[in-house]
Amino acid sequence: MKSMASGFNWSLFGHIRSMFSDIFSFFNKIIKGHGKFWVFKSFNGLVASGSLISFLLAFTLGYLYLFPKFQPVTESYPVPKSNNSVGECNIFEGRWIRDESYPLYNSSQCPFAERGFNCLANGRKDRVYTKWRWKPKNCDIPRFNARRILEKLHGKRVVFVGDSLSRTQWESMICMLMTGVDDKKSVYEVNGNQITKRIRFLGVRFSSFDLRIDFYRSVFLVQPGPMPRRSPKRVKSTLRLDKFDDISNEWIDADVLIFNSGHWWTRSKLFEILYDEILREEEVSSVLDFSRDPSTLTSFSTVELYRGCYFQVGGSLKLGMPTTTAFRAALDTWASWVENMINTNRTSVFFRTFESSHWSGRNRNSCKVTRRPSSESKGRDRSPISDIIIKVVKRMAVPVTVMHVTPMGAFRSDAHVGTWSDNPSVPDCSHWCLPGVPDTWNEILFSLLLSKNETSLR
Ligand SMILES: *[C@@H]1O[C@H](CO)[C@@H](O)[C@H](O)[C@H]1NC(C)=O
Ligand SMILES: *[C@@H]1O[C@H](CO)[C@@H](O)[C@H](O)[C@H]1NC(C)=O
Ligand SMILES: *[C@@H]1O[C@H](CO)[C@@H](O)[C@H](O)[C@H]1NC(C)=O
Ligand SMILES: *[C@@H]1O[C@H](CO)[C@@H](O)[C@H](O)[C@H]1NC(C)=O
Repeated sequence: MKSMASGFNWSLFGHIRSMFSDIFSFFNKIIKGHGKFWVFKSFNGLVASGSLISFLLAFTLGYLYLFPKFQPVTESYPVPKSNNSVGECNIFEGRWIRDESYPLYNSSQCPFAERGFNCLANGRKDRVYTKWRWKPKNCDIPRFNARRILEKLHGKRVVFVGDSLSRTQWESMICMLMTGVDDKKSVYEVNGNQITKRIRFLGVRFSSFDLRIDFYRSVFLVQPGPMPRRSPKRVKSTLRLDKFDDISNEWIDADVLIFNSGHWWTRSKLFEILYDEILREEEVSSVLDFSRDPSTLTSFSTVELYRGCYFQVGGSLKLGMPTTTAFRAALDTWASWVENMINTNRTSVFFRTFESSHWSGRNRNSCKVTRRPSSESKGRDRSPISDIIIKVVKRMAVPVTVMHVTPMGAFRSDAHVGTWSDNPSVPDCSHWCLPGVPDTWNEILFSLLLSKNETSLR
């Protein structure tokens, strides 16, 4: 396998690339509808008048020379056609409306829905939370039709990569599609494995449709590594921000690739626990939530108090690096992997943004699941993790679709696992009940795949 550019070189390249695309969109704004030739001619005159402009122009020309096929950012966001000519459809902007035809399946009849997410089986009595449909502004998500999707996905391989929220979406997709399969025994895990929280790989085959739906656990997407020699005592292991996950070779031939990461980029998940514990620890909600510890977002003046897993780039430890900076570096590594290793003519690539959680209280450790969706997003529609994902994808040279699920989840204070899990003593306002919100992520994913039909799912 081709080795990846070192983290330092890559991040430098990333910065230059970002600058190019900023400059490019700056010029785009100026010319508004005129052709590119117009820019060259009229700006030639201006070059002499300002060194700043000539500097920018040189970069732009260089950019156009190096990346002549640069496509405007909007092309990375294919969405279903708008219903009317006035309002534009952004499938991730909208509201939840009551719909008695939901839910789309019964978790108790789906062998791939893990017990921990089957809230009804775990004693939840109210069911209204299963009866909400996402209604994007100015358009509609096509009604889910399992049979139609199964036929469309015939012979394909769908791969989810990420943390437990990714596993939830994987389970949801299998349960949704199983409603269109007559012989339930024809759907099986390829190694006969049961779903567990720490398993590295799960692959489910729909044999009548020659379809594979796989899940790979890779909570950081980049590689954990051993403690470097001569490092401070508190360093027990590292997270190598410039090295992509070493099983990534197994994802290259996927037809659909869906990534997520975010919930593990916290101080409590990294610095306060040891490497071995990271691999073994249950994904308990109390340490899962980014928003619970806002101090992790800005500085690590107290970093010396902690020990455990620290960031590494190339040969050097980055002891004081904030988690958001590290996340950005890891995503740059991910972006470089996609750009170099994935043939996006064949593979549709998606990245899901941060899945809103609903912890409350002064220490943000209280979890009150409501009976109805909340009417306000209360700031949960934004997340620094999501902002970074959107920024990195916008600057990529190949088409990748951001599944921006943060805003829609923000209203669903009614849809979390709460105490209706396999471990009721630990309330959970991070994970979602199944059926539930992750089904909507899949409905959107299917509609995006169908709308990209001609180009991506040949
Ligand atoms: C789901 O299926 C189980 C077992 O077949 C059944 O007992 C339960 O009532 C069903 N739940 C719903 C909401 O239909
Ligand atoms: C779409 O257009 C049809 C017919 O013009 C209308 O009945 C329907 O309500 C519209 N749907 C949305 C989501 O605007
Ligand atoms: C992808 O498709 C484009 C246009 O059809 C083609 O120019 C390009 O070479 C293809 N890339 C690969 C890696 O096949
Ligand atoms: C999608 O692909 C199928 C063939 O695989 C084709 O018949 C259909 O016209 C394509 N387009 C749409 C929008 O479904």
